[in-house]
Amino acid sequence: MAGSRASAAALVRAARRARLHAHADYSDFKVGAALETADGTIVTGCNIENATYGLTVCAERVAMWKALSEGHRKFRRIAIVAKTNDPTPPCGPCRQILWEFGGDLDVILANLRAETGRHKLSALLPLPFDARLLK
Ligand code: THU
Repeated sequence: MAGSRASAAALVRAARRARLHAHADYSDFKVGAALETADGTIVTGCNIENATYGLTVCAERVAMWKALSEGHRKFRRIAIVAKTNDPTPPCGPCRQILWEFGGDLDVILANLRAETGRHKLSALLPLPFDARLLK
């Protein structure tokens, strides 16, 4: 989906739709993500679990891998949706991956009814290890 700039509500709706595709047979915890690129394209992802458990991939990383593999390189925002009253923030590994490829994204959290929080990724990952340190 390409466009100028989706509203936060539209991004959340895209994440809710993506969540419906989750493969979450083991945890029954379905997550959807919608990543907005710099040109306004929305790339979605859902969590995909595996019988070995450890090969599970979170919705956020699925969205980022899809976006990178389609040639996208700059990102603005990500919406993350789960069916919880408390906000479901990205896990530690996803924060690291989102930082690596997305920089200081706006992170919009929501459940099936409403938005539950907005954060800068730098607030969720305040002292990141990244490529700057390898120079
Ligand atoms: N999960 C995500 O997809 N994103 C998150 O932000 C938190 C956790 C998934 C991984 C696993 O499939 C299930 O939720 C339970 O941890």
